[in-house]
Amino acid sequence: MGAYVITGGSKLSGKIRVQGSKNASLPILAATILNCQKSRVKNVPEIKDVQVMISILTMLGADITQNGNELTIDTSAVNTWEVPEQLMRKMRSSIVLMGPLLGRFGRVKVSYPGGCEIGPRPIDLHLKGFAALGVKMSESHGFIYAEAGKLKGANIHLDFPSVGATENLMLAAVLAEGRTIIRNAAKEPEIVDLQNFLNKMGCRVKGAGTDTIKIEGCSIADLKPVEDYTVIPDRIAAGTYLVAAAATRGNIVLENVILEHIEPILAKLREMGCRIKTEDDRVELWVETPLRALDSLRTLPYPGFPTDMQAPMMALLATVEGTSIITETVFENRFKHAEELRRMGANIKINGNTAIIKGIKRLTGAVVEAKDLRAGAALVIAGLAADGKTIVEGTSYIERGYEWFDRNLQALGAKIEKTN
Ligand code: EPU
Repeated sequence: MGAYVITGGSKLSGKIRVQGSKNASLPILAATILNCQKSRVKNVPEIKDVQVMISILTMLGADITQNGNELTIDTSAVNTWEVPEQLMRKMRSSIVLMGPLLGRFGRVKVSYPGGCEIGPRPIDLHLKGFAALGVKMSESHGFIYAEAGKLKGANIHLDFPSVGATENLMLAAVLAEGRTIIRNAAKEPEIVDLQNFLNKMGCRVKGAGTDTIKIEGCSIADLKPVEDYTVIPDRIAAGTYLVAAAATRGNIVLENVILEHIEPILAKLREMGCRIKTEDDRVELWVETPLRALDSLRTLPYPGFPTDMQAPMMALLATVEGTSIITETVFENRFKHAEELRRMGANIKINGNTAIIKGIKRLTGAVVEAKDLRAGAALVIAGLAADGKTIVEGTSYIERGYEWFDRNLQALGAKIEKTN
């Protein structure tokens, strides 16, 4: 198991370019199954979750060339609708392959993804939506078999604006017969990016970014190759670097951001007293005066404060004097990092879905373990801000979502090395 060895105390300073979005790339790569042709996708981050998606698509029969952040994917020879179990288990979000495989073949077999480090994460909303599109499903021995023949457009009202369910249903409905309307849809920027990619392929999707998405079904023959598509920048990676800069009381510039996407994060950083300057696709953050604690930080679906930034913010707030309160409303069990932060001296009490953080002047270096991607990033941030040496074990979690994390932080002046 790899580890990051961090010597804390250096203020981050300098400029980096933000990677492409993980959570936009994954459904877009899944969408390439639909057109049975070539797609060229740029700004795809070189991260482990993308590698898993590439392996799955390759096993399904796709021909993929990777040139840094550019992927060319030819899905004309994809000839199976069964997602290999061992790859499916490597990445929960491979569930998003159900939609395009159902659209293209009218059937799919996947293993049940089960729980993960951040809670039980059911897929009932995905399955209810598929049922509305005319899919018959059965489950046995941990596998889901789904069969529709031809999907039928439908009115779907999601009980919760689930990101994955919205994406999966869009991906299935684009090849359904007739019109599908998804209400109470997720509004995240990654949904809009998926809509843009699908429309470039010839699909007819409208409304992403609002709570109502309308899809006019078409047939595979209507679809065309995607010559050139650029994935949006990763708003969570951007937020993570900004929070790391704030935690070290540093001064950094990020390039390749979409300011609107990171505004929910910037709003909270401003409230804490961080100085922020924005221009075009750049943001600069610096700290001049002591930071202030936050009375209330609630995670919510977009455009609320993103749950993926909750752990990094907890690490930052642990270093800010005063009492901060975080309420996690999106995931049931996403406070595992609190225990690790306590090893570094943080004063954090958890009560159900609320964390009460009494900030201290300095955290102290310790050996800690990353238990999921964002928790891992939070521990690295804590290590950068702490006195002495911190060892963050479990780099493989962090590498699932952050491209060149250690290298980028080094470029900003951090003392961080990876060991095996
Ligand atoms: N939920 C259900 N039933 C469902 C689907 C979701 O109860 O059928 C619940 C979940 O258990 C959770 C909540 O709804 O409590 C939100 O889940 P959602 O479906 O919106 O999340 P997701 O699609 O599984 C994506 C991101 C996550 C991000 C969430 C919320 C990808 C690949 N993953 O997950 O990203 O936290 O949306 O914004 O897009 C990460 O990048 O570290 C990460 C976990």
